[in-house]
Amino acid sequence: MKTRTAIIVLSFSLLAAGAVGVSMLQGRQALPLMVVYKSPTCGCCVKWAQRMKDAGFDVETRDLDNMGGIKQNYGIPKAVTSCHTAVVEGYVVEGHVPGRYVKRLLEEKPDVLGLAVPGMPIGSPGMEGPNPQSYDVLKIKRDKTTSVYAHVQANPQ
Ligand code: CU
Ligand code: CU
Repeated sequence: MKTRTAIIVLSFSLLAAGAVGVSMLQGRQALPLMVVYKSPTCGCCVKWAQRMKDAGFDVETRDLDNMGGIKQNYGIPKAVTSCHTAVVEGYVVEGHVPGRYVKRLLEEKPDVLGLAVPGMPIGSPGMEGPNPQSYDVLKIKRDKTTSVYAHVQANPQ
């Protein structure tokens, strides 16, 4: 009897583990394609793209020699520019924006140009390092003005 109970318990936990695996897989597939434009020599851009993959995005990177051109084409205000420029579902993602805010943007679908983390703050995804900084994730509006979308508080490591 005991062995049988153990077998039943075991098969239930295997089923449960399988279900979790499937739902994780579906969760990953639900996130759209993100195209990341970066200069061929940018290391932190590759790291950020990997963070987006980790967050479940389907990521494609494209190397460009003239990053200024693409930022201009997408209308990203000079004051908020960073290294890479990504495009996902028609929104621009400028710089080291954490994946959770990109996901929030795609859920909320506001009528904006996109999000930006100006510069390259230490501690942002892809810019991990000692002495992380607090920083703001900005929302770039269609009129090119910006407002704070989220404030990220540095977690001392
Ligand atoms: Cu960077
Ligand atoms: Cu970058």
